[in-house]
Amino acid sequence: MSKTAIVSAMHQELSALLALMPSGRKTVHVGREFWEGQLYGHQVVMVLSRLGKVAAATTTTVLIERFGAKRIVFTGLAGGLGAGIRVGDVVVADAFIQHDMDVTPLYPRFEVPLYERASFSTDAGMTAQLVKASRQVLANPKALLGSEAVEDFGLGDNRVHQGLIASGDRFIGSAQDGHAIQKALGAQGLDALAVEMEGAAVAQVCYDYGVPFAAVRTISDHADHEAHVDFKRFLRCVASRYSAAIMEKFLD
Ligand code: ADE
Repeated sequence: MSKTAIVSAMHQELSALLALMPSGRKTVHVGREFWEGQLYGHQVVMVLSRLGKVAAATTTTVLIERFGAKRIVFTGLAGGLGAGIRVGDVVVADAFIQHDMDVTPLYPRFEVPLYERASFSTDAGMTAQLVKASRQVLANPKALLGSEAVEDFGLGDNRVHQGLIASGDRFIGSAQDGHAIQKALGAQGLDALAVEMEGAAVAQVCYDYGVPFAAVRTISDHADHEAHVDFKRFLRCVASRYSAAIMEKFLD
């Protein structure tokens, strides 16, 4: 049976899913805990990548080289870019770009040198499955979170989006920074729906190895001056349950 790796950056993004695999076998390697076991009839390995592109690239390499991951899914939070993306929406990536990759004037802005590309696509089949799973979960957030949390966060009318996600080694905590990223991407004819800190690194390593990859991110904030407050609250109250519910439907 082929092995699926499930990765999040932080504990709160993965904890509910880890709790569903109490008999999982733990291996500590390069400072990370890798949990192997069975989940909804699949052989899985779960791990926290830690934050940022380098940590995510190390984790992905280990998952493939040492744990034999045959496909990788990243699940977590992201900051929404643009008015059409609301807190509680879900963005399923169809490609990733590094918003802090800049080797101009030697290469076009955002291009990853020697790869002759700026963006790395996700696996179409897995992405379609994640969209379907996310739609099922968003159809009834009250069942998952309870009415109080749904009202607190203004959830209930959320959408699933599919598109480009921009990754970089920076938490985007001002509207100015968020707009600057949108503007720079726009100048290259690109439009990202969300920002986070790991996906593009995982996508590039998976591209190197030819391993299918997909990613789902719930929007926790608007990548503006309130992002750090919204992010922490969302991380505490919502992140874990959304990740677990989406992954359950994805694996099922
Ligand atoms: N993940 C969630 N919110 C984010 C933000 N505003 N910037 C970067 N990564 C994030």
